[in-house]
Amino acid sequence: MATMGLKMMAGTCLLFLLVGVAFAEPGDFPAEFEFMGYTTNIDTPKYRLKDTVQPRNIKVDLDVYLSESRFTGTVELEVETSENLTQIVMHQNVVAISAITVLDDGNQPVILQSPGSFDTDSYYEILIINFASTIPPGNYTITISYTGRINENPTDRGFYKGYYHDGNTVREYATTQFQPYHARKAFPCFDEPQFKCPFTIAITRDASLGPTYSNMAIERTDEITPNRIRETFLPTPVISAYLIAFHVSDFIATNSSAVDGKPLQIISRPGVTSQHPYAADMAMKITNGMDEYFDIDYYNMGQGQPMKNDHIALPDFPSGAMENWGMVNYREAYLLYDEEHTNVIDKIFIATILAHELAHKWFGNLVTCFWWSNLWLNESFASYFEHFGAHMADKDLELDNRFITSHVQRALGADASPSINAMNWSAVADNPSISAHFGTSSYVKGASVLRTMEHLLGYTTFRNGLRHYLKDNEYGIGYPVDMYNALRKAASEDASFQATYPGADIGEVLDSWVQTPGSPVVNVYVNMTSGLISLTQERFQLTGTPPDDLWHIPITWTHGGNVNFDNLKPTMIMSGKTGTLQNIPGHHWVILNLQHSGLYRVNYDDHNWEMLANQLRKDKNVIHRLNRAQITNDVLFFLRAGKIKAERAFDVLSFLKDESDYYVWFGPLAQLDWIRSRLEHLPKAHEEFSAYILDMFTGAIKELTYDEKENENIAVTQSRMQILNYACNLGHQGCISDSLNKWNAFRSDPEKLVPKNARRYVYCTGLRQGDASDYNFLFERYNTSQNTADMVVMLRTLACTKDEASLRHYLFQSMHSDKIRIHDRTNAFSFALQGNRENLEIVLDFLYKNFEEIRETYGGEARLSTAISALSSYLTDYRDIVQFQSWLYTNQVALGDSFSTGKGVISTAMNNLGWGNEAAKDVILATRGSSAAITASISLLLLALSAHILK
Ligand SMILES: *[C@@H]1O[C@H](CO)[C@@H](O)[C@H](O)[C@H]1NC(C)=O
Ligand SMILES: *[C@@H]1O[C@H](CO)[C@@H](O)[C@H](O)[C@H]1NC(C)=O
Ligand SMILES: *[C@@H]1O[C@H](CO)[C@@H](O)[C@H](O)[C@H]1NC(C)=O
Ligand SMILES: *[C@@H]1O[C@H](CO)[C@@H](O)[C@H](O)[C@H]1NC(C)=O
Ligand SMILES: *[C@@H]1O[C@H](CO)[C@@H](O)[C@H](O)[C@H]1NC(C)=O
Repeated sequence: MATMGLKMMAGTCLLFLLVGVAFAEPGDFPAEFEFMGYTTNIDTPKYRLKDTVQPRNIKVDLDVYLSESRFTGTVELEVETSENLTQIVMHQNVVAISAITVLDDGNQPVILQSPGSFDTDSYYEILIINFASTIPPGNYTITISYTGRINENPTDRGFYKGYYHDGNTVREYATTQFQPYHARKAFPCFDEPQFKCPFTIAITRDASLGPTYSNMAIERTDEITPNRIRETFLPTPVISAYLIAFHVSDFIATNSSAVDGKPLQIISRPGVTSQHPYAADMAMKITNGMDEYFDIDYYNMGQGQPMKNDHIALPDFPSGAMENWGMVNYREAYLLYDEEHTNVIDKIFIATILAHELAHKWFGNLVTCFWWSNLWLNESFASYFEHFGAHMADKDLELDNRFITSHVQRALGADASPSINAMNWSAVADNPSISAHFGTSSYVKGASVLRTMEHLLGYTTFRNGLRHYLKDNEYGIGYPVDMYNALRKAASEDASFQATYPGADIGEVLDSWVQTPGSPVVNVYVNMTSGLISLTQERFQLTGTPPDDLWHIPITWTHGGNVNFDNLKPTMIMSGKTGTLQNIPGHHWVILNLQHSGLYRVNYDDHNWEMLANQLRKDKNVIHRLNRAQITNDVLFFLRAGKIKAERAFDVLSFLKDESDYYVWFGPLAQLDWIRSRLEHLPKAHEEFSAYILDMFTGAIKELTYDEKENENIAVTQSRMQILNYACNLGHQGCISDSLNKWNAFRSDPEKLVPKNARRYVYCTGLRQGDASDYNFLFERYNTSQNTADMVVMLRTLACTKDEASLRHYLFQSMHSDKIRIHDRTNAFSFALQGNRENLEIVLDFLYKNFEEIRETYGGEARLSTAISALSSYLTDYRDIVQFQSWLYTNQVALGDSFSTGKGVISTAMNNLGWGNEAAKDVILATRGSSAAITASISLLLLALSAHILK
């Protein structure tokens, strides 16, 4: 499954101490994926099954009544037992089981206990079949008849229902989301990833609907009655239950394959099939690229059955996408591409999510992790290939570069928290929930570690290791040790690896990254007289004293005397606390971690930083853009951790005034925003810091201009989006007036579309500067749009209105409009906060008055909590915090679990104020040193500061 987005970590911390990492959301991300409903303690033994009963073949036959939200089912499970048993235990979470029969391998009935032939436990979601006497090891066939429900709330997952608008008609469909433990809602089964077997699915549906989709192609169609049709699908290959899927609807499939034996379909509601071709083209290219890379053909994975390659766009989908074998589900906005309306960020997203899900066909489906604590294995690979797999298909997207900002920097950001878990976090036995395994570590960190390994092993050896792993474990279960051994095998076949790193054990190297929480910083001291470079490693934490962890760190480096950023083959693996490199003596700056190819930060001695700052100002292009990106991101983290002086940090950053590169700006933009939001309560400091940021945009805006050129490089387009979005928010005059021109042209002639990549800031500026009529105009467009990604842009920007009645309308719609999907509702709430700081009072008023209705209409407790936790970055006024606290405690009981989220919000908000108070003076003085635009006197600033501290 694909998820994205980082949760704010509300730490349990003392007032005025910053604990935990709060990620400033870089503005240009697609709406957050969510990870909810994974909070059951399904790791506790009572949920788990024993491996003495193995499913060998499962047949599922459902009779589906879509309009009544129900089905009846029969499941036939062939099992093999390996012990004498009096019971067989499996999972179920269906409505009611009506009958169970068991036959032995001679087709003779096995006598069940009477009364009490079976028990169900709805808490542990278990079915226990009781035998009259002990049954010996053997093969048995269990047949279970039952009734089930189609969930009407998509966030309940399992087999659930959604809808779409066809003109004024609302049409329904039903689809599945079984990961991680929802297959049992559709049929009793062995619902853990380790139990794999072929499945045969049959679905009976109304004749008025179109053919049903499932993992495999339809084998036969039977007319049961003139109104009822049954489709029976070909048997799947050996597969875990969570990968089964079906979809009952009148959706339309487009055949997007030109090659026999390689079917590929994009499937969606009718009316939007013109948005299929981009995904189809990318999906085919990525499939072909991965076939070759892994040396196992996707279309040959069917164990004798033809594989299909369907990708379905769902209007309602609480996750991002799900890699069901043969039939991947996507949230509609993440699959359908409209040249006129889908912006470049969403386009990249479509490409990468396709690659992510396709990579799972090998990592996850073909070879499955034993248990969720090993999730990093398949999620890491999927996240790795989401960029490099899509890169194979379309180099122009520059996904190799983007990997640094979207994965490496994000992973390091999360790892800066002292409380982060290791990748292979196995506290599963204690008090875990699966959700913890689906966090940043499993995804972006794992992928970054793999990239580090790839650079160490080299492209071919790394690839050979993956090929060994897949071949040796196909249709089975993979453990981390299997991956280590596969890489070891590949390394042992590579003489040059042996020669370059004598005695190195790649399994041990990888394991140090998998088992150790956090990520390291390499501290560098350069003796320019002798040329000796001294290195030490330690875990990087924003706060607290790091434990004595060590990593095996592959070191790459270059220096100002002989610049070479292209050789990414590490010169050594630093395994101890300290290490040395020998440079030529002389006055040369040094840079480690070329192109940010390893998952670590680098902190230099002050003199080396000073030289880097000078080089960057003089000619930044001498230093590779990805190293500039690492430097600008690292420096602000070091500032936050107190590891670099503020003057030096801003000295290093000063070259940004002439920098327009997307990747270089990505990290510092988020970090500068992080600082700025912590100065919000200190008006003078806040104003100065905002002016500083605007001043730093000067060169970028001049170079990027306000208008996209034809065929420009994708990073240029992204950079313009990134910078202008922020500049308009900060009140940049040029940005505002250009945006207003574009907005007004659009308003006076709706045929004159705002360029798709400019909509985020143009719409927002138009609404912010406009009135209710501007809001109504965009709201109407929202309601009639046929492109979901564009709708999300509109939903976001509608919240930029400053018109109170409009904002109240917006918030009301977030609960009640059927055009705002359940997965977008909590986002709508966050958008309302992001739109304008001034809107806070109205949003708080809305929350205070409607929290119970919000909980219900946004999709439950977890959604209300998410909405509440979004407040922490916006509660920057002490009075608002006090008022919030008083509301929170008054409604403690009614708030349920959201109460503790609210307490977290208060402590985070107080920490933010505290950080600002502590840092304001140093930060502002340091920015003054590097910027001429600043005029206010420091005494005025300090006055404003002390007034606030005294409060
Ligand atoms: C099963 O029970 C039979 C009969 O009581 C006994 O002979 C046999 O050893 C048992 N087998 C196992 C695997 O426990
Ligand atoms: C189950 O059936 C398979 C295939 O016929 C057979 O190989 C296996 O030995 C049987 N298992 C037991 C425990 O009898
Ligand atoms: C899809 O179209 C191609 C090319 O026209 C054709 O060869 C193929 O058989 C079609 N596939 C299906 C499933 O209809
Ligand atoms: C990876 O492995 C886990 C555990 O086997 C499995 O549940 C998961 O769905 C697999 N793939 C994905 C998408 O995470
Ligand atoms: C740098 O190296 C020179 C020459 O080996 C040595 O004399 C000097 O002490 C070193 N400086 C530091 C600070 O270690």
